[in-house]
Amino acid sequence: MTDDPDPSRDLLDPSDLIGLAAAGWRLGQDRCAGCGGYHRIWGTLRAAGVVGGPGADEAVLAPLLAALLKPADRVFLAGSADPGLLDLVARAAGQIPLTVSVADLCATPLAVIAQLRRQAATSVSTRRLDLADLEDVGQWDLILSHSMLPFVPPTQRLEILVRLRRALAPEGRLVLAARTSANLTATEAALHDQAWTARARKRIADAGVPLPGPAEAFDADLATFAARRQGQLGGFETAEMIARLLEQAGFEVLQSLKSQETTRLLLGGGTHSRQSYVLVARDPSFA
Ligand SMILES: C[S@@+](CC[C@H](N)C(=O)[O-])C[C@H]1O[C@@H](n2cnc3c(N)ncnc32)[C@H](O)[C@@H]1O
Repeated sequence: MTDDPDPSRDLLDPSDLIGLAAAGWRLGQDRCAGCGGYHRIWGTLRAAGVVGGPGADEAVLAPLLAALLKPADRVFLAGSADPGLLDLVARAAGQIPLTVSVADLCATPLAVIAQLRRQAATSVSTRRLDLADLEDVGQWDLILSHSMLPFVPPTQRLEILVRLRRALAPEGRLVLAARTSANLTATEAALHDQAWTARARKRIADAGVPLPGPAEAFDADLATFAARRQGQLGGFETAEMIARLLEQAGFEVLQSLKSQETTRLLLGGGTHSRQSYVLVARDPSFA
């Protein structure tokens, strides 16, 4: 298995969401292991607007990144479901030359990124890595993490944040996007998977996004995705809870910016939504 671009295929354009979805499905067939097919279907969900990806926070992230990034900055993307986060950084940087390393637990998004058309100003490498094993020290001018933290078991979150702090260069910044939401009640939890899956299927159909493979196989991954999504809700009820965890990890929180509210999922009589925040932090011991 190699992540070298397949010479028989055209390189992917990061704005070609259907092309990325097809590549994620194809490359994920023998790469998605521990994620239960999450990355096989992520691209289709993003193309249909079922998941927002980092684009949902672009209005907040793009100006923030444009203000923080300097020529020759070394940027570390801590968890990335597909090329979306890399593309957002590259567009925010414009002509500013950067070195970007993209890390994820799953090989699929890294393989999709390896198939991308290269952008002149940005040098990109990928790393298959559990962030709980990150050992970089003082290496990164900017670490960007989008929606990774809720994916990590609560017992590992502090450890990963401490490692991200150690990985920052002296003037470095962590930019962390995460969604807050109320914990599901038992009734809502029982309704969640079916409601979310039905809405996802409807949005895919309404958007006219083609399924990347056989419907049966796609639906099996969708069911796994819904069940796992439920486990990732309710980790943080408020932005203050995220800020407190960052402080426990030794960060100083410099900014906490409110971003988008996701569309509401109808669960029985009630609705359930998530609110996104973007926090900027640094290691105060370098101040
Ligand atoms: C919600 S997704 C990221 C979504 C983000 N909006 C994006 O488009 O990249 C979370 C990502 O973090 C990765 N991840 C979760 N735990 C990780 C860990 N311990 N180490 C590295 N990556 C991890 C998952 O594989 C997944 O790709």
